[in-house]
Order: sequence, then structure tokens, then C-alpha cells
Amino acid sequence: MKKKLIAGNWKMNGSLAANDALLAALRAGLAAQAPGCDVAVAVPAPYLAQVQALVADTAIALAAQDVSQHEAGAYTGEASAAMLRDFGVRYTLVGHSERRQYHGESDAAVAAKAQRALAAGITPIVCVGETLAEREAGQTEAVVKRQLAAVIAQVGHCVSEIVVAYEPVWAIGTGKTATPAQAQAVHAVLRAQLAAASAQAANMRLLYGGSMNAANAAELLAQPDIDGGLIGGAALKAPDFLTIIAAAA
Ligand code: PGA
Repeated sequence: MKKKLIAGNWKMNGSLAANDALLAALRAGLAAQAPGCDVAVAVPAPYLAQVQALVADTAIALAAQDVSQHEAGAYTGEASAAMLRDFGVRYTLVGHSERRQYHGESDAAVAAKAQRALAAGITPIVCVGETLAEREAGQTEAVVKRQLAAVIAQVGHCVSEIVVAYEPVWAIGTGKTATPAQAQAVHAVLRAQLAAASAQAANMRLLYGGSMNAANAAELLAQPDIDGGLIGGAALKAPDFLTIIAAAA
């Protein structure tokens, strides 16, 4: 049976000292009780080397928050998939709504990023999700399907290698979680879309993200098409993140 995946997205938070303390607490918690799911932390790029060392020989996988859509060259400020690979990165987020919103990332750019990650042996966690206006206009399904379709078209038969994260934009960092039923409904749509593209769809992992926390994780993770979580705020507090990991076992 596929294991669930619990991925923390630290966003632009942390410091050498804070990361050290957070990972010490996570390591201690996971040493006391081995996780029954896969665990990853997506850290700011400057801390990849620090965190690579701190998670070595633990159950925690290293993840990046973004990757360049280009292979190499004159792209100031970007990090390539090969560079991430050099630091032991196993997963990278692509198309997080904050990247789409603040950096104008198009569906095509997100798809190219997913492709670059796959080519470097890194699993892309492809983020999709609708804004509040889109939900209220009844466009949720159309939006997430459009976002995922771009990636499916780009990566072809490798689609079975990706992870998808459904993150309704209105639920991110707002404390407004999608209800388990709302999340499950969208996950079912995404699963069906993946099934049309891959015989492996049932084995693929679809994460929910958006104000998932220690109190609501168990109910969300109990939904049939929710195979894990992408956790922002609650991933910065070791006891909360450990509680969510335990809920995914
Ligand atoms: P949140 O963030 O858990 O703080 O809502 C989730 C995310 O943006 O990945």
C-alpha cells in the first residue's frame, strides 16, 4: 500500500539556529516513534546544505520550494534541478500559489519545472488550487484541471512519478481549511484526471494543503483520495508537525 506523505513547507522562515532547533525536535520525535508515513521538509534554498546534514540518516527527506524551468545558464537568482540534486534534494514544490501569484508563474512554466525536476531524479510536488473568486464563480474544477493538464501534457508517461498537492488559495495561511468533503471532492476530480493519463493513478499521492494543522489533520487524511499533506504554518512547530505525521500513519 502506498504510504502517505507529510511535507512541511517552511516558506521564507527560519535561521541557522531556528532550523537546528526545529530539526532536533523533529529528529527526537521521530526517533521515539518511527513515522508510518513519508516525511519531507521544503526549506529555503540557502539552508539546503545545513538541512541536508541535519536530516542525513533520518526518516526526513529534503525538499526544495522551487526549481528553475531552465537547465543552466544566465538566469540570475535561480537554482537548477541539478544543483538541488547536488544537495540531496528528493522533492521540490512546483507551482505553489505564492509563486504563481507573486512571480507570475504560468501553467507552462510550472509544467517545465516539473519536467526539469523529473529529469534530475527529483519528485515534483505539483501545487494546484483555486482562488476564492474562482471557487465562488464555480470554477474550482476547471481551474485545477487546467493547472494539472499542463503538467500531464508536458511530462507524458512520467506523470506517475509526480505528487500533486491540492491547495485552495483561500485556505493557505488563513486558518480557513477546506472541509474534508470539499477537499475530497476536488481530490476525486484530480484522481480521475490522472487515471485518464496513467494506469498508476491509484498509486499516486495527492496531498491536501491549506491550514492543515494538528487538530484537523486526522479527518482530512481519512478521506479516500487524500494521501498526505503539505503543511505551512504548522510545520514550523515541531509538536504540531509530529502530531500531523502521527495522524498520517
Ligand atoms: P498553510 O500553508 O499550512 O500555512 O496554510 C500551506 C502551504 O502554503 O503550503
